[in-house]
Amino acid sequence: ATGTQAARTHDAPVVFAHRGASAYAPENTLAAIDAADDLGIDWVENDVQRTRDGVLVVMHDTNLKRTTDAEQVFPGRAPWAVKDFTAAEIAQLDAGSWFGERFAGARVPTLEQYVRRVERNDQKLLLEIKAPETYPGIEKDTLAVLRDEGWLNWRHVQHKLIIQSFGAASVKRVHAQRPDVITGFLGTPPVGDLPSYAEFTDQINPNHGTLSLGYVSAVQALKGAHGKPLRVNTWTVNDAATAAKVAGYGVDGIITNYPDVVRDATR
Ligand code: G3P
Ligand code: CA
Repeated sequence: ATGTQAARTHDAPVVFAHRGASAYAPENTLAAIDAADDLGIDWVENDVQRTRDGVLVVMHDTNLKRTTDAEQVFPGRAPWAVKDFTAAEIAQLDAGSWFGERFAGARVPTLEQYVRRVERNDQKLLLEIKAPETYPGIEKDTLAVLRDEGWLNWRHVQHKLIIQSFGAASVKRVHAQRPDVITGFLGTPPVGDLPSYAEFTDQINPNHGTLSLGYVSAVQALKGAHGKPLRVNTWTVNDAATAAKVAGYGVDGIITNYPDVVRDATR
């Protein structure tokens, strides 16, 4: 400490690598998990969807076009929706070249492959159930993979896993099916509605542009589904100035493509 800085009134926010360290490696690939690990970042965020034959895969867009070569490999399969392809088909796709030639050949991981890499690196997982309305039953499927991989044991549930979604009904289903799992709701509910969210979630995870000191304080004043203060993890903060601003609001966590930049700006 230099003696010139204001005293910190909060712990430094937890840093989450958004889609992995996605500024440095193709999002939602095993390389992006490793890039976060190389930076010393424990927590990785990902997005989970389901293939036509019922396999969970890690991908953000509900469409394969932006981050894979699906249009070239499967011409005539427009609009290239994830849900219309089998796991074997998706496994053929190149999910790295769009980001940079040195990542050519990176694959779309299955959730199983993804969780195994997180485990190998001794990292932690902020898992987003993406577009739950498109994938009925995906909460049960997700919990089944996590259980089979040993991620629903006490240690993992206490320290290494959060499941979040933009779909309140999806978060509710996760909480109902596995009440021990920490959950997050993605969004900025009105303050008056927060008590109803607190019945099934532990975290309110808003877009940083919606935040204020007052909102963060109002969330944290309530207790979440496990009886602890509701936490606020905000996204997607990719520059030092915004990171310092939201840290000043007292957020509990920051979700970022640049976890090194955010860490340096908030410590
Ligand atoms: O983790 C929060 C953030 O990922 C939500 O937005 O579109 O990147 O999934 P999106
Ligand atoms: Ca996400």
